[in-house]
Amino acid sequence: MADPPKFDKKSRYTEGRGIAGAFEGETVTRRRLMEGGAQLAGGMAVAATALPALGFALGPLLEESEPERWQDVGPENNFNDETYVPKVISLVPQVGDAGKTTIYVRKDNPQKDKRVKGQGPNPPYVAISTRCAHLGCPVRYIQASQKFVCPCHGGVYGFAGQVEGGPPVRPLDRFYTRVSSGRVEVGKRFSLNSELKRFPHPRDPSNHLDGLWQYLYPGRPTT
Ligand code: FES
Repeated sequence: MADPPKFDKKSRYTEGRGIAGAFEGETVTRRRLMEGGAQLAGGMAVAATALPALGFALGPLLEESEPERWQDVGPENNFNDETYVPKVISLVPQVGDAGKTTIYVRKDNPQKDKRVKGQGPNPPYVAISTRCAHLGCPVRYIQASQKFVCPCHGGVYGFAGQVEGGPPVRPLDRFYTRVSSGRVEVGKRFSLNSELKRFPHPRDPSNHLDGLWQYLYPGRPTT
């Protein structure tokens, strides 16, 4: 009886290693080749899904943010701590009137205002955005009830912009304020969660900011 053929386990050819169905000159088995191809295709599919999502989440934070810009909204004696004064500021100066918005400004009211977390003492003026935190409709301040009301889906906010009813998911955004030579100036927008913790990179309407939600929505520095 003939001796069984001897195979060299270290041979670079599949045939030399005694692999069943091997072709002459083949160095990688078809099974290994298919496995490698499937893994490569899987890796490409994951990258095609994950990279755009990562870019969406981190991109805005890496964008160059707006330069510091303060806008004059009037002398200090224009404002008191019992009601808001509507003022028009420019959010996107490059597009003229289309980039303007109305904001509401008043003096800080130590009796009614909770301290905003994430800054020192509250600044002497409060500037509130009119962009509803539900879907962005313009809210209106009603002095008789001391509430902000959204005409679109019935969102209601209290005197400090906190949610009191309807679908909005967080308080109204605010703007940084300061006083310069007796005049009130308004800076960039920031967002707040329901505990009045400040998020310096503002979020889009409908983005929750409580609990784990704060990590799921990227900031929009230029919003
Ligand atoms: S947009 Fe204001 S409640 Fe829906």
